[in-house]
Amino acid sequence: MKELLQELSPGDRDWLLATSLDPKRIPSHIAIIMDGNGRWARQRNFPRIMGHKAGVDPVRAVVETCARLRVEVLTLYAFSAENWKRPRHEIEGLWRLLRFYLKRELPNLMRHEIQLVAIGRLESLPSPVQEELQAAMDETAHNRGMRLNLAINYGGRTELVDAVNSILDNARLEGNLHSLEISEEAIGTHLYTAGLKDPDLLIRTSGEMRLSNFLLWQIAYAELYVTETLWPDFTRTELLQAILDYQNRERRFGGLTRSAPSAMDLSSLLLEEEVLELPLA
Ligand code: IPE
Ligand code: IPE
Ligand code: MG
Repeated sequence: MKELLQELSPGDRDWLLATSLDPKRIPSHIAIIMDGNGRWARQRNFPRIMGHKAGVDPVRAVVETCARLRVEVLTLYAFSAENWKRPRHEIEGLWRLLRFYLKRELPNLMRHEIQLVAIGRLESLPSPVQEELQAAMDETAHNRGMRLNLAINYGGRTELVDAVNSILDNARLEGNLHSLEISEEAIGTHLYTAGLKDPDLLIRTSGEMRLSNFLLWQIAYAELYVTETLWPDFTRTELLQAILDYQNRERRFGGLTRSAPSAMDLSSLLLEEEVLELPLA
């Protein structure tokens, strides 16, 4: 398949990949750690911000492709709670790029009926960024197509801390703190992703084998796809390949594979006398 794909033009390649997908098993929620912008710039002796700038077009390609494939939720990691450790000029450049993206892409989001929601501690962002994000969220709030979560100043641990504090606040208000029991469902409904399905597929570009504090609760059973491709080089083709790869996985959620021997088959194995006589512990 790989060799055949290389011989095709990009358009034909995407067509072939898209038609190889099972439309009934498109992941409902895809999450992406868009990494490698700095390395992309370094390879070209460019300043890091040029890598971030080159990373804007793949965002458009991925958003559009997911919307067309009827993915329900796409969550993109744009700025982590830990990214404040970077030089001030890089961070300021990222805010400028975010404002540029919002301005340029809003008509596109509207055309595809995409609902934009920023998730993270937004109150720490510069006011103009907060205002423009809010305006984009308000404008797209009634769109009924794909939900696009932009994780900005997002940290999985802070999200969990916020969720637990909010459960505690509610209990204090309702006066039932003493009998409070926290369930998985209660935590889920206090996360930024409340009401959304958990990610089925988590993609990370640039080859790092780590989660970097992204959606720690929600990705419990996500399928992972890590590619060496740096984010600015990530294409629609590779997204389709990741989805095809996902469709070839067997998701077990702690259960058994469909091809595993059934209880009946196992019982016949266990009838072997020496097996039956084995001590249990
Ligand atoms: C990801 O690219 C974008 C952000 C974290 C904002 P990086 O800037 O982390 O790129 P590398 O990892 O240094 O190559
Ligand atoms: C994760 O990438 C954050 C985003 C992609 C926004 P980083 O580049 O910040 O992660 P580490 O530092 O390599 O773990
Ligand atoms: Mg990085």
